[in-house]
Amino acid sequence: MKYFLDSAKIDEIREAYDTFGIDGVTTNPNHIMNSGKPFFTVIGELAQFVKEKGIEGWEKFPISVEINPHLDNADEMIEMGEKIAAICPNFCIKIPCTLSGVTAARKLEEKGIRTNLTLVFSPSQALIAAKNNSLFVSPFIGWKESSGEDCTQYIQDIVTIYENYGFYGKTQIICAAVRNGKQFVDCAVAGADIVTAGLQVFKDSFYHPFTDYGLNKFQSAWDKTIT
Ligand code: E4P
Repeated sequence: MKYFLDSAKIDEIREAYDTFGIDGVTTNPNHIMNSGKPFFTVIGELAQFVKEKGIEGWEKFPISVEINPHLDNADEMIEMGEKIAAICPNFCIKIPCTLSGVTAARKLEEKGIRTNLTLVFSPSQALIAAKNNSLFVSPFIGWKESSGEDCTQYIQDIVTIYENYGFYGKTQIICAAVRNGKQFVDCAVAGADIVTAGLQVFKDSFYHPFTDYGLNKFQSAWDKTIT
């Protein structure tokens, strides 16, 4: 299962790349706002980052960049998607899973621009994303679970549907808004292709107090040993 960092902060992206070997990045308007920088400055930094690391191209390190969420006309969505995609070959265009969104995504894919259908909350939405050849589909896990739904079956159903019809791996399932280590494991057990989460979630899910306990124990043994 691949790890994507959900962030638009270049320092976080560098840290996650060096520490966790992340395979890609997802952004959204919220993350861009939190970076405190203008939209085109942020995506310019992302384009610079992949050049610097020698990982240019969406096949090597996909970066999802979301279009203006106010757009609700497929032609306008396509126009903005083309403008963003022209900046960097890593950019995949993140589009909301609305009627105009799926129309725009299908047309962008026909033009060779890769897309990520986002704000997906049901397997039937995920099925449309795959039928329209989006490279990515982003079912949101954390949002559903915070409202009391268990997402294990939800992810499993999307995986099964994709397997049944040959979409598995072609439209890659990004489990989004992942909040903790249990959700990482649930997504991996269900066969999701990717999880995307914030840097602190990666750090927290990796931490185990017994690792510290064991390290202290072995340090104390080391100190009592004649070397
Ligand atoms: C995913 O692609 C989204 O950017 C993200 O997970 C949104 O949710 P959050 O900001 O609540 O984590």
